[in-house]
Amino acid sequence: MKAKNCLIFGGSGQIGRHLIRKLTKNGFRVTVVTRNIHQKGYIIKTQGNAGYIDTVEANIFDEKKIRKLFENAEICINLIGILFEKKKNSFNNIHAVFPSILAKLCKEYNVKKFIHISALGINDALDSKYAQSKLEGEKNILNQFPNAIILRPSIVYSVDDNFTTNFMTLLSRLPFFPLYYSGKTKFMPIHCTDLIDIILYVLTKKIYLQIIECVGPEIISLEQILKKLLKLIDKKRFLIPLPLFFANFSAQFFQLMPKPLLTQDQLRLLKYDNILSGKYKSNSEIGIPSKRIFDQEVKKYCYMWKEGGEFNTSKYNSH
Ligand SMILES: NC(=O)c1ccc[n+]([C@@H]2O[C@H](COP(=O)([O-])OP(=O)(O)OC[C@H]3O[C@@H](n4cnc5c(N)ncnc54)[C@H](OP(=O)(O)O)[C@@H]3O)[C@@H](O)[C@H]2O)c1
Repeated sequence: MKAKNCLIFGGSGQIGRHLIRKLTKNGFRVTVVTRNIHQKGYIIKTQGNAGYIDTVEANIFDEKKIRKLFENAEICINLIGILFEKKKNSFNNIHAVFPSILAKLCKEYNVKKFIHISALGINDALDSKYAQSKLEGEKNILNQFPNAIILRPSIVYSVDDNFTTNFMTLLSRLPFFPLYYSGKTKFMPIHCTDLIDIILYVLTKKIYLQIIECVGPEIISLEQILKKLLKLIDKKRFLIPLPLFFANFSAQFFQLMPKPLLTQDQLRLLKYDNILSGKYKSNSEIGIPSKRIFDQEVKKYCYMWKEGGEFNTSKYNSH
C-alpha cells in the first residue's frame, strides 16, 4: 500500500509551504507541527484543500506529544532549522538533538520514509556552529535510522525566501552594499519549486541513498548575485569589498538585533563555497536536475522592489 500520511516539522517556513502545496496536490495527507497555531495556522491551512491538512501546536521537545503524532505517520519530513541562536534555541538543540529524537521515533514506529533537510557545504565549514550542528544532526539520524534520506540544498530562493527578498530590500534602501570576502563565495542557488520536486521524487521513488546534494543549474558568486538583483530592480549601488575586521565588527553589532542581518557565525559560513562537493550524489545524478534559472525566476517577483511596483505609472507623468 502506498504511504500517504505525512508528518511535517517546520511546515510553516519557505520550503514547508511549497512542500505542503505539492504533497496535498499529489494526494498526501499532511500533519504539520508548529509552535504557534495562531500565527502560523492560516499560512499552513491555506496551502492545500480542506481535509488534507491538520495542524498541531507543540513544543518539539515535548516527546510525549510528538510521540502520539507518530502513531499515524507513514512518512516524516523534518524542515526545522535556524540561522542564528537564541538563548534556549541553540544550534545544537534544533539541528542535532531534535533530529535525533525524530530518528528514534521513526525507528520505533516503523516509519516508511524519513526525509531530513540539512545544508550544503557543512563538511567544510567546520568553524561554523551552524555547520557543526547540522553535521552532528545528520550523524545522529543515520546512527539511529540508516534508511533516512538527507537532502543538502544550496541556498534556496523563491518569493517566500529570506534571501533574495531581504537582499532586494536592503539594496533598494542602502546607497552601498558590503561585499564580504570580496563577494567571491560561490553558490548554486536552487529554486524552492525544484527542491520540492526533488523531495517528492525521493518520497515516491525507490532511492537508497543517505545523502543527496541539491543544487540549481548555475554557479554564481555573491557579487554576481547582488549585481543580478540590482539589474532586476533597476538600481545602481556601490558594492564595496569589506575588510574582514570591519565585517566581523559589523556582524557583532548586527547579531544584537532580534532578527540579525548577519551574525559572526554566518560570516564564518560565508567563507566557504556552497557548491557540489563531489563526495555525494547530486539531484542531477539521481535523475532530477534543477532547471530553473536564477534571473528568470527572480524576475517574476522582483517588481515589488522596483520604483512604482508592477504597475508603474511614470509614463503618464509628463501629461
Ligand atoms: N532556505 C535556505 O536557503 C536553506 C538552505 C539550506 C538548508 N536549509 C534548511 O532547510 C530547512 C527549511 O528551511 P526554510 O528556509 O524553509 O526555513 P524557514 O523558512 O526559516 O522555516 C523554519 C521552520 O522551522 C521552524 N522552527 C524554527 N525555530 C524553531 C524552534 N525553535 N522550534 C520549533 N520549530 C522551529 C518554524 O516553525 P514554526 O515557526 O511554525 O514553529 C519554521 O516553519 C531548514 O532546516 C534549513 O536549515 C534552508
